[in-house]
Amino acid sequence: MAEDKIKLTKLSARCGCAGKFTPESLAKVLEHIEVKAEERDPNLIVGFDKSDDAGVYKLSEELALVQTVDFFTPVANDPLTFGKIAAANALSDVYAMGGKPLTALNLACFSANIDSAILAEILKGGAEKIKEAGATIAGGHTISDDEIKYGLSVTGIVDPKNVITNSGAKEGDLLILTKPIGSGVLTTALKIEFITDEEFNREAAIVMSTLNKIASEEMQRIGVNSCTDITGFGLIGHTYEMASGSNVTIEIDSKKIPFMNKVMDLVKDYCLPSGAYSNEKYFEKYVNFSEGITEEVKLSLFDPQTSGGLLISVEESKAHKLLDNINKRSEIKAKIVGRVLKKDAKNNYINII
Ligand code: CO
Ligand code: CO
Ligand code: CO
Repeated sequence: MAEDKIKLTKLSARCGCAGKFTPESLAKVLEHIEVKAEERDPNLIVGFDKSDDAGVYKLSEELALVQTVDFFTPVANDPLTFGKIAAANALSDVYAMGGKPLTALNLACFSANIDSAILAEILKGGAEKIKEAGATIAGGHTISDDEIKYGLSVTGIVDPKNVITNSGAKEGDLLILTKPIGSGVLTTALKIEFITDEEFNREAAIVMSTLNKIASEEMQRIGVNSCTDITGFGLIGHTYEMASGSNVTIEIDSKKIPFMNKVMDLVKDYCLPSGAYSNEKYFEKYVNFSEGITEEVKLSLFDPQTSGGLLISVEESKAHKLLDNINKRSEIKAKIVGRVLKKDAKNNYINII
């Protein structure tokens, strides 16, 4: 039976957030739905023009909706695991805004030629994570499609005064990263059988299916300047969005970045999703790499992440306390990976040292 078990990652060309549109083509499409300033709904506090994690819509002075949607092709061979990862990833954008998830809608594309028990397992994995988040599944939509895809649209709430955007980083802040990097590399390795399911389940599957709930709750409690989650544009792409939105330069210490096991060896063998190269092409002009940074470290920083950690910009005086508070409660350890500097004269948004 084990031999003819379907390997979900073999059924699609791209896996997870690595299947996102390239940043270049996304910008070209979005330009057509730009809203004129005078036509803009004043209650839309955060819209897509900010490249932030989720939309935020004010209902009253105390209450705003946080809305996001994320779905993609399988990132794991086990359907239950895939469901968990997809839900953790979809919830993450609400957590990144400092919101509390309330409801979720399933989105599933599924082929009539595949055993429906697999879809049931995927949905079960998603439901487990929504429950763990303290949210409720309110419904969903399925459509027949030869390529399996799953994800959710999540709605949360936030106090409009406490929205944490990706554009509030301040000079002197320290940067905390809450999960290790390398999920794109490891998902690719799983798909082409450079690693086994067992190796994948030991670390990558756990990292990706872990909610960003604890880190988000702790950053809300202590108060931080800025946050985003690391997904399809990789560590550098999302750091760039934070740096450019905040008009600062961000320095990241490559020696402090946590990587999952085997990632560097796999990158040395050029086991990377194509999204890593499109990220590199688009974002490298904003980055200054110090001498001595190896090619594999460079490439891994462009690796598209699925359900990655939060990148939090917090005042230096609070940073160690926040780190302790997260790490006391979380199995996966957060790390301080860099700091926020004044926008540099050479106009680099990111310095990798
Ligand atoms: Co995001
Ligand atoms: Co997203
Ligand atoms: Co945000």
